[in-house]
Formats: sequence, structure tokens, C-alpha cells
Amino acid sequence: MPGSRPVIVPPAPVAVPALRPSEYTAALIQVLRADASRVRGARVLEVGCGSGAVLAALGALGAAHLCGIDIEDNAISASTQLLEELGHGAISELLCGDMLRPVAGRRFDLIVANLPHFPMPAVEIGGRLPTWSAGGADGRSLLDPFLAGLADHLAPGGRAVIAHNAFDDLGRSRDRVAASGLSLRVALTTLVYISPEKLARMTAEILRAEDGRTIHRYGPYSFGELHIVEIGPAPEGGS
Ligand SMILES: C[S@@+](CC[C@H](N)C(=O)[O-])C[C@H]1O[C@@H](n2cnc3c(N)ncnc32)[C@H](O)[C@@H]1O
Repeated sequence: MPGSRPVIVPPAPVAVPALRPSEYTAALIQVLRADASRVRGARVLEVGCGSGAVLAALGALGAAHLCGIDIEDNAISASTQLLEELGHGAISELLCGDMLRPVAGRRFDLIVANLPHFPMPAVEIGGRLPTWSAGGADGRSLLDPFLAGLADHLAPGGRAVIAHNAFDDLGRSRDRVAASGLSLRVALTTLVYISPEKLARMTAEILRAEDGRTIHRYGPYSFGELHIVEIGPAPEGGS
């Protein structure tokens, strides 16, 4: 209508700024959305659910049950609140605890994770808690136990979809899952921005080895290659 003013709807405030979703979260959601029919009706688990955004996306895709684990109390309350607000409260279960321990003995059709796996010590960066990104010197302090425990938590035919920095030795992850009779494939590779603050904390020998290979620097701006990988049953007759 002539003379009418556009209605500007202010964005809803992010519940906990330290838990704001990242580019890793976005890439994980992109891969899950691309294969939505495999989410419908699935019992899903997310290890390290943070804000709850990935569980919310899985709920919107029609998952039957949403279980989220996080070591931080505020991540559990933020996820609980988000899933309630979006109408997924009745199918949600949020558990505070370490990695897969709270679901010992249980199996899921789909397990997702964007674990802390940046090769650096546990420090607070960019307003994030020290538990957000740090994966120890090789980036694998949580990734390795997660991969080792996966086979015990996947239902028959089940799969995992996880974020995996390209500079965290994908070959090693491939070998680890193969040892449990599973196989790994890269579903998406994309670039994510790495802040100067974060790059400065990166394990020096990994940065040296990966600079120009999986880490791309343009003056003060740095980007790292990120894979979203799918882990599932090994194909019959080979890996
Ligand atoms: C990179 S964030 C990912 C958060 C969310 N999934 C996302 O994609 O935005 C990693 C999450 O793992 C959680 N975390 C760290 N150590 C953990 C552990 N030992 N067990 C369970 N969760 C953990 C952190 O609190 C954080 O929420």
C-alpha cells in the first residue's frame, strides 16, 4: 500500500550468547536437511548439543525422539527451553553428562555431533566456554573416545553424522571406525572462518603441516576445511 511502512520484526534474542550456533552447526544442519527422509521417524542423539539448534532442526525434519547430551548445565537448559518453545518438548530428553556415558546401553538410529575438536588447549575464546572448541593438542581428545563408542550406540543400520576438521587427520578416524566394523564417507566439505585469536592457539606443528593444505590464509583472514562425515555400516564385501 502506498505510504505504508514495512513491518520490522526484531530477531528473537539468542538465549545464551556463549552457545550461539556456529558455521559448523550450519554445515551439519545442511547435510541433515539434504537427506531429510532418513531423519523422519528416527530416534536421534546429539552429543554436545550446545544451544539445541541441531536437535531443533532434527525435530523439524520429523525425528521421533530427540536426546541431547552436554557437559554444561546452561547448554541443557538452553536446549530444553528451545525445544519446548518449538513444540518438541514431548519428544525431547536432555541429559547433562560426559560424552556417551548418560546413554550407556542405549542405541539410536542417528547420532550427530559437533564435538570440541580444534587442536588447541582449553581456553575461553570469542566469549565461548573453554569446553566449546578445544580438542587437545591433536584435536582428538573427544573425537577418539566418541568414535570408539559409536558402534555400541548405533541401532542396526544406524548412522552417525559428525563435523570433522580436515586438519584433524581424517585417515585416523577412518581407521578407528573400520576397527569397529563401520565405514566413513565425506558428505560435505566446506570452509569455515578461523579467527586470529583461535589460529594463534592452534597446535604449532599442525598449523605448519596444514598451512596451504587444509588451512588457507589470505592476509589476516584464515579459513579451515571442514568435513561433515557420515559413519555407518561398512558395505558388504569391503570397507
Ligand atoms: C562445538 S560445540 C557444539 C554445540 C552444538 N552442537 C552446535 O553445533 O552448535 C561443542 C559442545 O560440546 C559440549 N561438550 C564439551 N565437552 C563435552 C563432553 N565431555 N561431553 C558432552 N558434551 C561436551 C560443549 O559444552 C558444547 O556445547
